[in-house]
Amino acid sequence: MTDHPEKHGFRTRLSHAGRAGKRVHGFVNPPLLRGSTVLYPTMKDRVALAAQRGAHVLTYGLGGSETHWALADMIAEIEGGSHSFIVGSGLAAVTVPLLAFLKAGDHCLMPDSVYGPARNFATGMLARFGVETSFYRPEIGEAELASLLRPNTTVVYTESPGSHTFEMQDIPALARAAHAHGAKVLMDNTWGLHVFQPFAHGVDVSIQALTKYAGGHSDLLIGSVTVADEADWKRLHAGAAGLGQYASPDDCWLCLRGLRTLAVRLEAQMRAGIAVAEWLRDRDEVAEVLHPALPGARGHEIWKRDFTGACSLFGVVFQPEFAPEATHAMAEALELFGIGASWGGYESLVLPTTGFITRTAGGEDFPGPLMRVHVGLENVADLIADLEQGLAVLRGWRG
Ligand SMILES: Cc1ncc(COP(=O)(O)O)c(C=O)c1O
Repeated sequence: MTDHPEKHGFRTRLSHAGRAGKRVHGFVNPPLLRGSTVLYPTMKDRVALAAQRGAHVLTYGLGGSETHWALADMIAEIEGGSHSFIVGSGLAAVTVPLLAFLKAGDHCLMPDSVYGPARNFATGMLARFGVETSFYRPEIGEAELASLLRPNTTVVYTESPGSHTFEMQDIPALARAAHAHGAKVLMDNTWGLHVFQPFAHGVDVSIQALTKYAGGHSDLLIGSVTVADEADWKRLHAGAAGLGQYASPDDCWLCLRGLRTLAVRLEAQMRAGIAVAEWLRDRDEVAEVLHPALPGARGHEIWKRDFTGACSLFGVVFQPEFAPEATHAMAEALELFGIGASWGGYESLVLPTTGFITRTAGGEDFPGPLMRVHVGLENVADLIADLEQGLAVLRGWRG
């Protein structure tokens, strides 16, 4: 994992961003401020504060407080953006910018590999509000995307890699086509948190499920939407504030606490994830490992070009002779890996996914059943021993 050399190193920035400054009696951390009502000393103050809407000023609890802004500033710093809006979940971080940047009559393009609830939101609520979405093969290039753009396409949504099937997208190429057309590029950058710098690669709006590695301890739900442009910030802020989006200050505070150790966790989990992925790739039961940081894996060249590191979420494709139910038996037999839908915490997880994934754009058809693996902070040798006994259950499964 390499730092971005134009600034302090990543660990230094995680230690020093989003601090309380001199405001709270010398404590290092920002205070946990809870509250709805904010009292104005005079009506003149009320008018002056209201005029600064969107800036970091306290007017009413819904606009956030120092606890929210410290986190927002830190996320903007980590992603290389200028402003972040903190929302109550990663899913809200997906839906809020879609609502903010689309209007009735618009067309939106989404990769077929998109996070399932984002797909459901597009085909459900966005459709009801008069926005049409079409799904594209995630691995297409500039010319093919250009051919899919319609006069009314205003948003090109991206997610790279896809969080279940790990297709890498050529974001700079897609952004060139989208921008030439006047469309905005939205990206779910949860997998690439910090190791992919969205705004340096043409993204306009970056989405984070901070629930994952940023929080890091599987004890909160929170999300962020980050932009790097003043006009985009006005639009995002108006949309998010208008929708009444708000995150609990307790969760913001906890997330800030998690972020202080993000670099060391991410580094350790990246290494452990690659070690476990390499071990799995050498196993006879495994047809393919979907981990873009592995040389030879699909998408590796794009990863090498655009990313400075990896997280510890990847996929395993088992040999076609194994039934999906055999992977369920394996998952249930594992002692250190839980069966869980989330990722980014300190604990290892698996999730068999065959039968749970929707594809409509003729995407990859994998030869055998799929399992998603998240590697936590346990010892790699223990995780591998657990997988070894799990694979024995897989091999022995007889329906
Ligand atoms: C890629 C991706 N984006 C967004 C989300 C939504 O995050 P949350 O669970 O905080 O709503 C998830 C959750 O699994 C995810 O995997």
